[in-house]
Formats: sequence, C-alpha cells, structure tokens
Amino acid sequence: PAAAAPKTKKLKFNAIASQPASADALTVPAGWRWEPIIRWGDPILKGAPAFDPNAQTPQSQAAQFGYNNDYLDIIVTNDEGTKALLVANHEYTNENIMFPPGTDPATLIRTVWEAHGMSVVELERKRPGKQWEYEKRGKLNRRITLTTPFELDGPAAGSALLRTAADPTGTRVLGTMNNCSGGTTPWGTVLSGEENFNQYFKATGTDVKETRYGLSATQDSRNWRSVDPRWDATNPDYVNEPNRFGWIVEIDPTDPTSTPVKHTAMGRFKHEGANVVVNKDGHVVAYMGDDERFDYLYRFVSKRKFRKGDTKQARKHNLKLLSEGDLSVARFYGDGLEDGVSDGTGEWLPLTVNGESVVPGFTTEQVLVYTRLAADAVQPTKMDRPEDVQPNLVNGRVYVACTNNTDRGKTGKEGATEPNPRTANKDGHIVEIKPTKKDHTGRTFSWDLLLICGQPGTAGTYFGGYTGPVSPISCPDNLAFDSVGDLWISTDGMPSALTLNDGLFKVDLEGKNRGRVRQFLAVPAGAETCGPVVHDQDGSVFVAVQHPGEEGTWAVPQSHFPDYVPAGTTAKPGDFAGPRPAVVQVTKKRR
Ligand code: FEO
Ligand code: CA
Ligand code: CA
Ligand code: CA
Repeated sequence: PAAAAPKTKKLKFNAIASQPASADALTVPAGWRWEPIIRWGDPILKGAPAFDPNAQTPQSQAAQFGYNNDYLDIIVTNDEGTKALLVANHEYTNENIMFPPGTDPATLIRTVWEAHGMSVVELERKRPGKQWEYEKRGKLNRRITLTTPFELDGPAAGSALLRTAADPTGTRVLGTMNNCSGGTTPWGTVLSGEENFNQYFKATGTDVKETRYGLSATQDSRNWRSVDPRWDATNPDYVNEPNRFGWIVEIDPTDPTSTPVKHTAMGRFKHEGANVVVNKDGHVVAYMGDDERFDYLYRFVSKRKFRKGDTKQARKHNLKLLSEGDLSVARFYGDGLEDGVSDGTGEWLPLTVNGESVVPGFTTEQVLVYTRLAADAVQPTKMDRPEDVQPNLVNGRVYVACTNNTDRGKTGKEGATEPNPRTANKDGHIVEIKPTKKDHTGRTFSWDLLLICGQPGTAGTYFGGYTGPVSPISCPDNLAFDSVGDLWISTDGMPSALTLNDGLFKVDLEGKNRGRVRQFLAVPAGAETCGPVVHDQDGSVFVAVQHPGEEGTWAVPQSHFPDYVPAGTTAKPGDFAGPRPAVVQVTKKRR
C-alpha cells in the first residue's frame, strides 16, 4: 500500500527548463551529475578490441556493446548493493553516422547484424551512492546479436508457418532484431520486444498476411538480402523467415550459456515490450503494446502459476511460465465526454482460451503467428500507437503510453474516440487502467486518461486535473515507477512535436499533485530517451540515450554526445567526434 512505502527523499529535484531541439547537451537538474556507464563499441567480451570508429568489423562489434540502446535495466545482484547486471536492447543502427564513407557494403551489413540484439554487462561500484563502472571482463558479460541461435517455443513452435530451408524444424532462429522495450520478470529474466522487423525484408507485399505487418516489396533499403538470402521472403526457401521475427524474446542474464527463447504463446506483432506482474492468484500476466497507428493493446495470462523461492526447481518452472497461456486484446468503452474527462470501462476479448484459438476461421497457430489478423476479427479498440504498458505494483493499476497518431481523423481513417480523443494526435497520451477487483486475469476493467500530452495550455491537453505549472511533454514512450509508485516517462519525438529535445519526466499519481509533470533530464540533439530505470532509494536514475545525432552525417555530426571530443581531434581510437549511443547514470553531486 502507498501509505507504507518509503519516501523518495533522495530523489528531490527542481524541474529543468525544456531544452530547444538544437541543443547538443544532456541536461540534468541543478545539484546532479551525469556520466556514461557504457557506450556503443565499448569492449565487453574477452579479446574485444578497443572501439575504433574507422575500423569496426563484425568480429569486433560482436564483442563490444551494441548500437542504439533502448530497453534498459540495472539489476542489483548482491546484498551490499555493489554488484549489478546491466541489460540493454540494441534496437537498430544508423549506418550514416556509424561508418566512414566508402566502407565495404557487405562488411557494413555483417557489422550491423552484430550491433543489433542485446547486451548483458556486469557492473561494480565501491558502495551504494557511488558511480557504477562496467567490468570489461565480467564472467556474465554477453552479446546476443542477429547471429545468436534462439529457440522458438510454445504452441506455434515447429509450425509449417515457421519453417525455412535453413530450419526445416521451425524451432531454431538465428538472432533477434529491432528490440525495442522490454521488461524484467519476477524470476529475474529479461523480456524484449521485436518491433519493426518488417523493414529488413523484401516481400511480395501482395498478401494481407504480409501487408498487415508492413511487409512490402520496397521497404528493405538496407539490402541485407545481398549478403544472406534469408532476408528475401520472395525466395521460396525463405517465405516464412519474416514469421520468425515479431516475438517476445526471453533471456536469462545470469546464464551466459543459456539459449534465448522466442515465445509464440505471446503472439506476433510489432512488440514494443512486455511487462509481467504476478497476479494475486499466482498466474503471471504480461501486458504488451503493438506499436503501430491504430493497433492494439494485448494481455497474456500464463497457464501455470509463479513459484516463489530461489530453488533450482522453482527457477526451472518459472522459466516455462510464458510458454503456455492465453492471449486477449483490449476493447475500451467511453462513458461520454459530458463529464469533462476521458474515461470508461473495458474488456479483454479472448483470442485463445485454454491455449486454443477461439477466433472463427483461425487455427491456434494462425492466431499466434498472424495475431494482428486474428485480433482484427474480434474488433478491439484501435489505439494511438501503444508503446510501454507497465503495471504499477504500488497502486495495482496499469499504465499505457500511447505515443502519438498523426493519422487519426485523416480521410479514410478512424476519428477521435474517448480513449484516443484527439485527431492528428502528435503529442500522445497516457491511459490508466484499473483491473476490476485488482484482478489482472479478469475480463473487465475501468480506465481513464492520466495525461493528454502537449504544450501546457494548448487545446486538448490534460494533466490529471492538476492546474499548477507543468513541464511540456510529448510522445511518451517508456514508463517506469519509483519505489513509492510515482510514474517516470521517457519520450521519443518531442523535437518534431514541440521543437524541444526529448527527456525524462516524473509524474505524481496520488494526492493534490496528481498529474503534475516535472522534467528531470533532457537528451542531446537527435536522441530519444529510453530506459528509464529509477533507483530512488539509492539516489540514482539511469537512461539509455538512443540515436543521438541521428540526423547528422559522418562528416558533419549533429551530436558529439557523450564524449564531446572536438571535431578533427581523432588522435587515438575512441577519440570520436561523432555521437555514440550510451547508457547514462545520473546521481547527486557530492557537497
Ligand atoms: Fe521502438 Fe515503439 O518504439
Ligand atoms: Ca467521460
Ligand atoms: Ca519505444
Ligand atoms: Ca520509439
């Protein structure tokens, strides 16, 4: 209960001013400091060379921290609070600023395959409150890339829809990609969402099973198929290769020899991430967003129950919880806007029951592999790009970041609805869901909009009823909670929506300040803010700074984050004037 929770005294801050979109600075509140823990290209595996921006190879990249860190967790692993595991996703690559002009195209493609995926890195510090440093030779350090073998599990594993010439069993996939957000499970594994996988494939684009996922004949500008035919779904040997991406993957960061898993039971769409809560009856429930304009909010309920304890048997049991269960999709009902607020009730529409399809015309395998099509058939609510969906363990509610949807209300598209109340929604909103009787497995819920984002004072914005000053906020993407249950939101898209850099914001959820938004940090030019991780009782906040300087070129960087080496002074490897995506820690300055 909120009343008994400790106060977040160590995280008092005065909101920073919004940062103009041209500013190439990471800005934190007065009295706070920041530094990178680890950057793109930093060596993490034995034998890894130092980062050399002029000579990256597939081999060096495979042993170094990957590119464009998105999901982040810092999992403290000892009682003293001096050891931790950093787990990060590497969503995609910005070839224009990663490689010098003239780089051999095949080398470039093979190198970026190794820059995708995930990293596990050991951290150490002298004592709580001190800065973390990463262990270059940590025993648990690991890279998972587009060449790492994965096991497909669950009801669709082995399906004819998942077989290719290279994998006639339909159970073993090389790699993961476009890993966006994720979640750390109560049993200590990390989930990661495979999001915009379509952009890497050439497809015929003539079948709804392709077009509903954005697969077309023209969108693979990276031309990976020139190096490996599996990226060409028009090749009869690889028509099913796109079906092997778009899953929730699970990795065990404590076991570098474990085979990561793709969970077919959790459905296939453009997964933003998955966050798991143990329901009061012991079933585990994962909430998941499908990040596309007019797509849906999903829920997975495990067949089996969570087992407490740190025994080997409990761990083995829990590692299978996401392999069997039921998938449903959300429909929202508004109660009318006469009451002045967006709110109402909702229900979870089942796609499978007892592990079997309940969608007319769809087999179970089809529901799981073509989940978007199966969901369309039951008419869920078309949302404004659901990104992170995060259960709040303090108040029992669930928060959904709808990042934006500038197509809402356009000719031929759905107009405003109570849960998505603005046409041309460039700023996004936050949905707050209250499961009926706090039961995450129940059929029904009630909901309201916590925030309707934007420049405060402009038409249509709403800040939870709070009428005092708030920071401008737009395009909410990743969500986190601190120990008292207040909400932290990182953003992706403020430069185009508000001509302000993206940032990290704290939102009060209870009492007279409910809906008060205060900006904690701003990221440099071109970057989006990811993570975030809030260790308020420890006085530290972590963010993943993704795609800094994305709009720049190799010759003319848009950003010099995080090293701010002056241009033209590339004297030694690592002295790189261009930007490097990095994980940043923010702590109080010592007096
Ligand atoms: Fe990769 Fe939904 O943002
Ligand atoms: Ca209403
Ligand atoms: Ca995201
Ligand atoms: Ca994003």
